[in-house]
Amino acid sequence: MVKVITYGTFDLLHFGHINLLKKAKELGDYLIVGVTADDFDVRRGKLSVSQTLVDRVQAVKATGLADEIIIEEYEGQKIDDIKKYGVDIFTVGSDWVGKFDYLNEFCKVIYLPRTDGISSTEERNVNSIKVGIVGEASYINKYYKECALVNGLTVTGIHAKSTSKFDKELLPLVKNCSYEAFLEGVDAVYIATQPRYHYEQIKLAIAKGKHVLCESPISITKQSCEELFELAKSKGCVLMESIKTAHSVAYNRLLLLTKMGEIGKVVSVDATCTSLINIEDHGDYDWNSLYEWGPTAMLPVFQILGSNYKSKNVIVGYLDKEKNFDGFTKISFLYDGAVASIKVGKGIKSEGELVISGTKGYVYVPAPWWKTDYFEIRYEDSTKNKRFFYQLEGEGIRHQFVSFAKSIALNRNISYISAETSMSIAKVCEDFNDKNGIETIEL
Ligand code: CTP
Repeated sequence: MVKVITYGTFDLLHFGHINLLKKAKELGDYLIVGVTADDFDVRRGKLSVSQTLVDRVQAVKATGLADEIIIEEYEGQKIDDIKKYGVDIFTVGSDWVGKFDYLNEFCKVIYLPRTDGISSTEERNVNSIKVGIVGEASYINKYYKECALVNGLTVTGIHAKSTSKFDKELLPLVKNCSYEAFLEGVDAVYIATQPRYHYEQIKLAIAKGKHVLCESPISITKQSCEELFELAKSKGCVLMESIKTAHSVAYNRLLLLTKMGEIGKVVSVDATCTSLINIEDHGDYDWNSLYEWGPTAMLPVFQILGSNYKSKNVIVGYLDKEKNFDGFTKISFLYDGAVASIKVGKGIKSEGELVISGTKGYVYVPAPWWKTDYFEIRYEDSTKNKRFFYQLEGEGIRHQFVSFAKSIALNRNISYISAETSMSIAKVCEDFNDKNGIETIEL
């Protein structure tokens, strides 16, 4: 009996897949089809697969062409499968020519002609969402590249007051028109302007029925933040706060393990985020330390301990008091039975770590914790310590765009950041701006 094996994602099963499976089947007597697991696809850079693994397996099964279906979960599994199942022929479409020659050592490798004119990517892009980017910061270059990796989203324009920090490839996308006119040409916007503009820009976008992903803080008062979420709800639009850390796999695992009681009852969450002032951005007094780092540092605090803190103590070191530019801010939160602290700096450097202390042990995330790919759960008995590593692709930015695209497709906000957390962040910004109950130190 000649055993044949083939692998694929088989998203939105189309006639190209069916042709391939038929031809693969004809190569032998028994066909094994390996369907890729969701997280394996993400790791190999295939994002926004529309269907779940279960649906994709069922679709392959329904063709009646596979004698056996297996799941492909890890790099190097092909060799293991070939040996395990006694495979004679490995086959895939001609888009992979050369890529699997290394398997010739274990079985025969055949590249079958690919069917022209159809692919899952094209099927998914039929309804691609047109995204407009608003802002002029240098990190837009990175966001643009990450967005381009996400199927179902296409950046069609950029609205910027200045283009001096943009890479050449972004320039043809820059539109010289009013913000209102710019909104007409897009389905959704990613807003990366300074926080004081967010409220008006989001309001106008939502009023026109556009979905919004906005850099944190969404707004700088709690009330305006609440108003924007209500407006989005009434208009059927997605409003999502952008904090890339929230979409890191490792960060989400540590949240989950903490909530499952892995370190016992959480007693303290302490996060530090700092950076020095970029020469390029020098004189840019909007991204002070609280705006630039506060939302990220507050994220684990509110996501673990919730928004109902009893009081907070804010200590600010201004670099320029008139411009409300803090170089360093330390906030302590007091909860029922727990405390938290954040330390943020712009122009001041410190160890950017996250520590979550509990009654059984603690979570330790080394600097820079906001790009979490590794963390440890540590105990009194260090032989019980556990280490966790998850690859962080694109700093979490692409996963954030995937959540945004999925939220729009599902017409339901599946953001990793709740509206309640966004409002808590806005409230801290509001008190900071009003200089409400803050103490100062001389820098
Ligand atoms: N395939 C094919 N003809 C097509 C599309 C896919 O022969 N028009 C083959 C691929 O070469 C592969 C298998 O079908 O051997 C599964 O491919 P998969 O990557 O799941 O499908 P694509 O449509 O290529 O998906 P995507 O656009 O997401 O890459």
